[in-house]
Amino acid sequence: MLKKIGIIVGSLRENSFNRMIANTIPELVDSVEYEYISIANLPLYNADLDHGEGPETVMRYRESIQRTDGIIIVSPEYNSGIPGVLKNALDWSSTPTKTAVLIRKPAGLIGATPGAKGTILSQQQIRQTLDAASSYVMPFQKMYISQVLDKVDSESRKLTDETTRKYLQRYVLSFMQWIDQVQRLNE
Ligand code: FNR
Repeated sequence: MLKKIGIIVGSLRENSFNRMIANTIPELVDSVEYEYISIANLPLYNADLDHGEGPETVMRYRESIQRTDGIIIVSPEYNSGIPGVLKNALDWSSTPTKTAVLIRKPAGLIGATPGAKGTILSQQQIRQTLDAASSYVMPFQKMYISQVLDKVDSESRKLTDETTRKYLQRYVLSFMQWIDQVQRLNE
């Protein structure tokens, strides 16, 4: 059966470079089913709303993650850290404590920036959050995309830099292997 990978973009901006990277993934590895999981309409986390089945948008969001074999987060860095909208989404997927959809979920991290440091600091914080939520973040492969303005085409809204496309392809293929390893661990 085809693996299903959920892709979460940590930017809500229409012309987001990170979304361009995310949109390129399916053409690099096509032996997978992908689902883009939106975080745009999630309410701000409020434990008072987080009871029973919770708000409808949260329920649908959690179900989308549940249906995947693993999630890849493609996110910018804001102020040397995780964008607030993404932290909010990850908090919603980290509860209820014992049955949260992030528990034992394989996760991969990718980030792009026009700057020079490739979202290293943001990815550290995302990794920390996912670790707290008991996800399995792929440990060895890292995907930091710097100077992204030179690597995308704003018309097609895709990643066009050949070297980076190869890295991205290799990253996704490694992530599929990571899913296999985690699934064996979860058996
Ligand atoms: C940024 N940006 C940024 N870039 C970076 O490499 N390190 C950083 O700490 C920050 N901080 C930061 C804070 C805020 C509030 C904004 C709005 C932006 C720049 C950021 O990388 C750039 O805007 C990207 O284009 C955002 O990603 P998307 O929306 O293009 O995917």
